[in-house]
Amino acid sequence: MRNEMQIQFSALSQNESFARVTVAAFIAQLDPTMDELTEIKTVVSEAVTNAIIHGYEQNPAGIVYISAVIEDGKVDLVIKDTGVGIADIDEARQPLFTTKPEMERSGMGFTIMENFTDHLEIQSHPGTGTTIRLIKYLTKNKALCN
Ligand SMILES: Nc1ncnc2c1ncn2[C@@H]1O[C@H](COP(=O)(O)OP(=O)(O)O)[C@@H](O)[C@H]1O
Ligand SMILES: [Mg+2]
Repeated sequence: MRNEMQIQFSALSQNESFARVTVAAFIAQLDPTMDELTEIKTVVSEAVTNAIIHGYEQNPAGIVYISAVIEDGKVDLVIKDTGVGIADIDEARQPLFTTKPEMERSGMGFTIMENFTDHLEIQSHPGTGTTIRLIKYLTKNKALCN
């Protein structure tokens, strides 16, 4: 059975934990392991932080969109902003690449997203915004999906 939820919220840093907790609560019905739950929270946190800090450059008028679909034991997450966009996606994906070196854990966001999921897709255009799609299979259900 397909089950979908969508949320949208202002690009404020305090909403990062709201997003992380909300997605985790939705995913809970798939009975994830603690590790899987932590990984999902971490990737949501990285993607939402990127939307707020890079996409909207901390302008709270920006709106961050998240949709999550649960189907066949996998989670399909889309995190979207309509902010500044990324000029060179290949460069942005490189470990340690950052345009904000003063930040904590600099340049590892996309690497973390890649490592903690089964599939990472980045669509972005300067001036239009960025859409991140993440797919993660939960181990319990993996056998059913292959
Ligand atoms: N939503 C976004 N909008 C615009 N630029 C982004 C976005 N997400 C990532 N980027 C760009 O990609 C780079 C790498 O992102 P990331 O790996 O998360 O590292 P960090 O956030 O520490 O810079 C960022 O420094 C930024 O230039
Ligand atoms: Mg980041």
